[in-house]
Amino acid sequence: MNYSSIAGTGAYLPRRVMTNKDFEAIVDTSDEWIRERTGIKRRHIAAEDETTSDMALEAALQALQMAKVSKEDIDLIIIATTTPDKVFPSTACIVQRRLGISGFAAFDVHAACAGFIYALDIANRFIKTGGARCALVIGAEIYSRIINWKDRGTCVLFGDGAGAIVLRASDQPGILSTHIHADGRHEELLHVPAGISSGYEQLQQEKAFIQMKGNEVFRAAVGVLDAIARETLSVNGVQPGDIDWLIPHQANLRIISAAARKLDMPMDRVVVTVDEHANTSSASIPLALDVAVRDGRVKRGHLLLFEAFGAGFTWGSALLRF
Ligand code: UT7
Repeated sequence: MNYSSIAGTGAYLPRRVMTNKDFEAIVDTSDEWIRERTGIKRRHIAAEDETTSDMALEAALQALQMAKVSKEDIDLIIIATTTPDKVFPSTACIVQRRLGISGFAAFDVHAACAGFIYALDIANRFIKTGGARCALVIGAEIYSRIINWKDRGTCVLFGDGAGAIVLRASDQPGILSTHIHADGRHEELLHVPAGISSGYEQLQQEKAFIQMKGNEVFRAAVGVLDAIARETLSVNGVQPGDIDWLIPHQANLRIISAAARKLDMPMDRVVVTVDEHANTSSASIPLALDVAVRDGRVKRGHLLLFEAFGAGFTWGSALLRF
């Protein structure tokens, strides 16, 4: 049985930045409200002609470069996204073509904000069982396309971006454990009601945009993130004090702080990017990882805990030695 480990990370953020002040001209909100309730200061918004595969490709190229892996060595691409370029083919197939490689499996995973953890879980299983040796695992989202720009309760919360890792077979662990869960009973607390089979014609109407009961999602997120962190630590016989960095999904600074507090983790061991990126859904963890790797906080040998919660509900975690 092989192990898998992260050989390199990459990220891409669109050039255009929207500040909280910019939202004051669009909806009845304030910079103060957004900072206090969410911790968000600004977010990146894709250009009109920019796509999810554009962002995923850039992040992937950076990750390949850091890993010193040639694209010909890649034998699996998994992209976590809920905002693909097309209904089909998958964004992973599009990125594979744009990288100029082919033949091996490439597919998308749809698990909303927990998508990157789902993709990591799957790629890790491929590598452990010999089904792949070198995977590109990407989270890429363009939520600006599914935001209701008239709904102040959601439009200020999201941003666009992509993060990627190269996950390679290794004789040392790497990924120590992954844990993924779902509870479909909460579908309507956080969803985009329009879809393919349930009203494609509604895609130009309000149903094509994010609808969220923020308060209820908030409460569920705090409880579930604590449970999954404890599940992960207990399976591995690890104490919170052993973790070098907690890298949570970046939805709201208050959710992140509550999760850290429950684990007794000081905030100076938590990677926070929600202030700069807002919520980029399945891109948020690989983006935060890349930021912390490149600024030197996350170092080789560090013990990292990823945790995420999103629509579905879906949630998941990973404990890994970087
Ligand atoms: O990544 C997937 C998971 N998603 C999340 O984890 C998001 C979870 N939820 C949240 O982060 C928070 O619930 C929000 C940031 C969305 C909202 O914060 P809150 O403290 O739960 O506020 P609330 O929904 O209870 O709203 C409080 C008030 C309301 O006004 P009234 O009814 O008390 O008069 C809202 O209408 O704040 C109002 N409000 C706003 N005011 C100014 C809501 N959005 C805004 C806004 N600006 N943008």
